[in-house]
Amino acid sequence: MKGIVLAGGLGMRLRPLTNVTNKHLLPVYDRPMIYYPIETLCAAGIREIMLVTGGNSAGDFLRLLGNGAEFGLRGIYYAYQQGEGGIADALRLCEHFADGQRIVVILGDNIFQCGIAPYVERFAAQESGARILLKESEDLQRFGVPVFDGDRIVGIEEKPAVPKSRYAVTGLYMYDARVFEYIARLTPSARGEYEIADVNNFYIREGQLQYDVLDGWWSDAGTFESLFHAGELIARGRSRVRQQVDRQ
Ligand code: G1P
Repeated sequence: MKGIVLAGGLGMRLRPLTNVTNKHLLPVYDRPMIYYPIETLCAAGIREIMLVTGGNSAGDFLRLLGNGAEFGLRGIYYAYQQGEGGIADALRLCEHFADGQRIVVILGDNIFQCGIAPYVERFAAQESGARILLKESEDLQRFGVPVFDGDRIVGIEEKPAVPKSRYAVTGLYMYDARVFEYIARLTPSARGEYEIADVNNFYIREGQLQYDVLDGWWSDAGTFESLFHAGELIARGRSRVRQQVDRQ
């Protein structure tokens, strides 16, 4: 399976931190933000990654990540997203890279405590379709939120004023090759973007969207509060590991 990291956008919610650099290059405790999603994919056995960036400092990703050897990658490919078309628009640029294979897509500002290998394995065992990861959240108005009928997802609402469940859709999406067909059929949302929630809604209508509820913590890092919170979670995790090492 191939991996895709989406790291475009102007990071408007983090101004002035993002006035001269890309959001995904900002530090989250002791690493640049972009390291975390790359490591998440690598730890799940993914060895080929395409990184889509845009906006400020696109060239700095090449300086920082090079050919990806530091992460144990076979190769890292780069694409540049012009303008502010949204997540699904960035994904559109990866069709050639995906080359008909299944893909694991992660948003560049999403940080996961635990490995995603079990979910990727379950996706690999699926005959077709898509798979998403959900996590309970207290900040649902900022995320895609699933609507359930029993334990079946019947729709995803993007940033709902009145959320219809207690789960956020995390920024980790697994798709079969049909994803590019669906992207081609999208129209821009009210905020003028091609929404990933709409891509998932295509799969839902076909009865082809599966999900897991994530173990461990998950945080995005696209606002001051979540960036700070993600840094704290990482710092706590690192100090736990240090304590364990000291005890040995
Ligand atoms: C995006 C998605 C949203 C998802 C979130 C996860 O939101 O549109 O559905 O829940 O990522 O981080 P954005 O970060 O663009 O506001």
